[in-house]
Formats: sequence, C-alpha cells, structure tokens
Amino acid sequence: MCGIIGYIGKKVKIERLLVDSLKTLEYRGYDSAGIAFVTDKVNILKSSGKIINLEEKIDENVESNIGLAHTRWATHGKADDINAHPHKSGSVTIVHNGIIENYLELKEMLSKEGYTFKSETDTEIAAALLDYLKKKGIWSNLEVIKEFETYIKGSYALGIIFDDELDTLYATRKDSPLILGIGKEEYLIASDVSAIIGFTKKYILLDNEDIVKLTNDNYEIYNSNLQKLDRSIQEVNWDVEEAHKAGYPHFMLKEIMEEPKVLNDTIHEYVESVDSFMNKMPDFSKYKKIHIVACGSAMHAGLIGKYLIENYSDIEVNVEIASEYRYKKVFYDKETLLILISQSGETADTIASLRKAKADGIDTLGIVNVVGSTIARECDQVLYIRAGVEIAVATTKAYLLQVAMLMLINIKLMIEHNKITNEELSKLLDDLKNSPELIKNVIEKDELYKDIANSIYEDRDLFFIGRGIDYAISLEGSLKLKEISYLHSEAYQAGELKHGTISLVEDNTKIIAIMTDKDLALKTISNIKEVVARGAKVVLITKEELDSNYDFIFKKVVLPKANNYLMPLLTVIPLQLIAYHVADNRGLDIDKPRNLAKSVTVE
Ligand code: F6R
Repeated sequence: MCGIIGYIGKKVKIERLLVDSLKTLEYRGYDSAGIAFVTDKVNILKSSGKIINLEEKIDENVESNIGLAHTRWATHGKADDINAHPHKSGSVTIVHNGIIENYLELKEMLSKEGYTFKSETDTEIAAALLDYLKKKGIWSNLEVIKEFETYIKGSYALGIIFDDELDTLYATRKDSPLILGIGKEEYLIASDVSAIIGFTKKYILLDNEDIVKLTNDNYEIYNSNLQKLDRSIQEVNWDVEEAHKAGYPHFMLKEIMEEPKVLNDTIHEYVESVDSFMNKMPDFSKYKKIHIVACGSAMHAGLIGKYLIENYSDIEVNVEIASEYRYKKVFYDKETLLILISQSGETADTIASLRKAKADGIDTLGIVNVVGSTIARECDQVLYIRAGVEIAVATTKAYLLQVAMLMLINIKLMIEHNKITNEELSKLLDDLKNSPELIKNVIEKDELYKDIANSIYEDRDLFFIGRGIDYAISLEGSLKLKEISYLHSEAYQAGELKHGTISLVEDNTKIIAIMTDKDLALKTISNIKEVVARGAKVVLITKEELDSNYDFIFKKVVLPKANNYLMPLLTVIPLQLIAYHVADNRGLDIDKPRNLAKSVTVE
C-alpha cells in the first residue's frame, strides 16, 4: 500500500529514473504519484491518477542524482495533486508509506507552533514534525529522526531529504516495509525488491526503527539509539524479466499461465521423496486445534485448508479474517497452532494477529511468498510458497500455492495422526506431483472460458454456488470477478440460496455452480434445478466423473479426472480465467483495479 523509492548514485537522468522505477511499484497504489529531486534545491513534481499522468510532466534533461518517489493509495484525503506525495514542510521533504495514527494530536501541537498545512494528509504532519524538531537546532539530522520516532504512533516507511544536507538521503521504517538496495556506486531505498531489481540484486531488509543514511559512496544503518549496525546483505533470486509481462497483455494472464510451473517448483521443493517431505515439514504432533488467519484470497485459501484438515485429519480448524481476529476474544491455548497466510507477508491485520498470538505465547506458522517479509520473519516457523514475483493486484498463482501448501500441511497431519497408509501416501504424493500437468490441461480450454465470459460480461449481478469445499472455491471465484471486472457477485452455499437470496434470481440471472464433490453432487444438482426453475442460466463447473447429460445447464466446464484431494487446484483455474476475460471484455485495467492495492499495509 503506497510504494516508495529513493535513489542516490551515479545516474543523473533522475526524473526518468524515478518515474520508471516507480512503475514497478504501481501495483501498491495508483491514486497519485510524485517525485522530489535535488538540484541546487529540492524540486517536487506530482500528479493525481496513475504514474502515466506524472510521466507526461517530466523533463528528461534535468540532471540530478538524488531523488525520492511515491505512488499513493489514499488513506488521508482524496486522491488529488495536493494530497499526493512528496510533502515538504519548512526544510524537510518526505515520502511516506503507512499511517501516522496520532496525526491529529501532532497537528494540534504543530499548529500552536505556527505550522499551517496545505494537504489533508498525515504525511505532511510528519514532515512538519521533522522540521519542527530540526528547528530546535540542537540535533544532527540523524538525531532529528531518532527524536521523531519517539513522537509517532503508527506505521511508517519514510524517505527524507533535508534542505541543509542536500547530498544525503535518509530513510527509516516502522511496521511498513522498506529495503535498502546496494548497487555499484548507487544505493536505493524501496518498498520492495521489484523496484531495485533493475539496478542491483543485492539488498538489506531493514528492521523496525532502523535509520539509513545514504551518500554517493556510502551507506550507514543505525538503530534507534544511533548505534551503527552491520546488517547482512541478501540477494534477490529472480530476474528482472519476471517483473515484465513477457508478451502477455496483462500480468494477471501471465501469472495464471505460470501456475503449472510455480506449482511444480513448490511441490518439488517439498516433495522430492517421502523422506524429504517428512524433513521439510514441521512437526505438528502436539497441536489439537488450528487457527488459520488471513485476509481476502489468502483467507479463502485458508477455508480450503479447513475443509481438508477437518475431513482428512480430524482436527478442528477455525478460519478467521485477520481484521476481526486481531480485536476479538480468541479461544486458544498452547495446543493451538496459528497459521498466518499472506502472499506479501506485509498485510497489517495479519501481522497484528500474529503479534497478538505471539504475545499470548501461541505457536505461529507463516505461509508466505515474499522472502524476508515481516510475517516470514516474525513467525516461529515459515513455509515459503515459490510463486516468484506476483504483480497483478488480484492474486492467482499465490492463491493456488497457498492452497497447495495447505494440502501439504494436511498430508503431514494425516501421517502424524495415522490417517493414511504408506501406500496411499506415496500415491497421493505422486498425484500431487502430476497436478501441474492437469492444470495445463485445464488452462488449454481457455476458449471455453472466453465463451462463458462473453455470455456474462454485460450482466449486472451474478451468483456462485457450491457445497463444502466447492463453496470455499466459489468465494474465491466471486472475489476475483468482483475485484477486476466490477461485476457484482455473491458466493453462496448452494443449499442456502433459498433462505432469502433466491428472491434475486429472475429470468436470465447467471449462476456459476461448482460441483466436484461426489458425495454432495445430487444435493447441488437439486439446488441448480431450483434456480433453473426460476429462470436462471447456470454455468456448471464439474469433473469428468460427475459429468452427465445435464440438459438444464446453460454452459459447462468439465475438469479432467483427478484425485479428489487435488480438485481445488483445478477448479480455481476456470474461475480465474473467466474473471480475467470478463474484465478484458469490459475494457478494464485488469492489473490495477480501481481502489485496490497489492500489499495492504494499513488496517
Ligand atoms: C485478492 C487479493 C487480496 C489478498 C489480500 C491478502 O485477489 O489479492 O484479497 O489476498 O489482500 O494479501 P496478502 O496475501 O498479501 O496478505
């Protein structure tokens, strides 16, 4: 949520450099964008809307080798030029990601000191606070930042330029992500590695309250007592090409097409053999209860985990939305494992839930994509999915791998609870290794998904229905469609429609029904007939074994024969592609849907 970049080094075409680097972070927010760069003074350029609007304003000839950039996901104040970052107050210019929670209190204090404010943002107040502390006159800029941190409640990743030290860039963070890129004769600060990969693969993960001081030829990192730190340098393990569309019209489509590969990578990392699987998976034997906490699609993946773990391992699982879990009364004990699922590893509510449980002494396990992210670092144990970089705001490949990881966790639980024989285990692991091939077969039917999308893209409302695990997948299908196509949809347990919602069904209402569970198929068919009788047109997603000559169906997707356990991996693919094609037909900005951001670092 909001992306920030800072650059200092040998390159001098600063406006182009900042704008191009900022584009790699645009998925974090795209309400407005801005840059600040140093000539004989600090210059600021900003624009509401996407980065392309800012790009139109840049002067390619200006030379400078120090600058900051920001792409905004609005929190305080509307998305206009005035609220866009950078913000300057007195002699201090900053870009900010996070939320200053006590900004009103600080605003009152600073107003009494004579400060006035142009924007509605909390960020301008942070800039004013830095300026105010500077004016006290007794501190170096490092000391000003140290003092600043004692005033702030909330989260921040900040890039800072002080007018009295124009050859130096400062940065600091607390509970919002920030990394330091270490290139040859150049340094960068950025919200994540995708912004630095075009310059260098080497980076340092900054910790809470670290303060960074960057000059042309040196970097220094301090803790909040201003003691110098020696932090280890890490290396990005993916290439710059991964951050490009590779010929696809959208990142989302590219990422769906990558699903067989990333699934294969993840499965092979954990399941070379039964022995390696046993070694790589944590020991869960002491846990009698599992809580899964996450947001959005990650929570939907958690629901799949719940169905699998409860059905196959006989262990009770509660799945909760992180923004609720963090504030509610939670019933857990030392025999409860809390699993946090997060692609980014930076989702504020998920982090808060993790910290709450840790403070209560509960064991935590993260299922995370971004290596070294806050959740990965703070969980007692972490299982990485290997999705690579996911740029489209709507998650596809990371969701798939979250589900796959929960399948692996459940297999380990089944072993620990004697719910699977050795024979069944090796067969299941073999089937899992085969699943990327099955996904390829499902993707190959893309013409069918386009045809379905053609028949629904002009509709206003849509329903998804399913029972059991198919209901959990329906939730994800509905979210995917809503978020990128703006077509309203609801996911319902197939048996629940008639308790109210069926009153919305009329002639030509489209319903996507998912039916992959043999034991529930007849029940789902009855529910389908109920809506067909009221004029609905039903798109059925089922599997070969359950397919029949259903003449009451409008359109049908038949998934290939597969181990029942693996069906969720296959079922979600048509839903992702249908959502994609609907949004494409509607001519929308698929990778950057309105109002959204990839990494939700505010609560
Ligand atoms: C939907 C989507 C979001 C995320 C959610 C959690 O397509 O991407 O619902 O799943 O914001 O994000 P992470 O997994 O980064 O914690």
